[in-house]
Amino acid sequence: MKKIALSLLLACGVAMAAEGNATDANATDANATASVADAGKGKALFAKCAGCHGQNGEKKALSKSDVIKGWDAAKTEEALKGYKAGTRNAHGMGGVMKGQVAAMSDEDIKALAAYIATLK
Ligand code: HEC
Repeated sequence: MKKIALSLLLACGVAMAAEGNATDANATDANATASVADAGKGKALFAKCAGCHGQNGEKKALSKSDVIKGWDAAKTEEALKGYKAGTRNAHGMGGVMKGQVAAMSDEDIKALAAYIATLK
């Protein structure tokens, strides 16, 4: 009897953990489960972005960019990939951003996007 109660409790805990994930900003993104782990790596990568975008992504970089803190991860990922490919130039300064992300892997970009989404 005790055993059954325990396994019920465990099942409950797992269900709750899964629910926690579902409330993540990217619940519809197939990669949502990766985003929490990515955020730690993204924080380290963001150090080199902070000079222009602010420690919390609260600044307009070089007075040009949008304020990116809290951007949905999918939106940031799309923007960064666009800069990397050289196809995005939202404020006439895409070249600056291309230099920032040119050497980044898709994984780095994902991690950064996950971290930026956590900035408030
Ligand atoms: C030298 C200053 C500088 C640095 C460093 C920099 N950025 Fe930017 N960032 C800019 C500028 C300028 C723009 C606007 C580019 C354009 O015209 O589309 C921009 C745009 C962006 C945008 C899109 C915002 C918009 O307005 O559309 C994102 C997202 C972004 N940067 C993320 C990052 C990340 C992540 C890093 C670090 C890897 C980074 N930036 C480093 C200057 C910088």
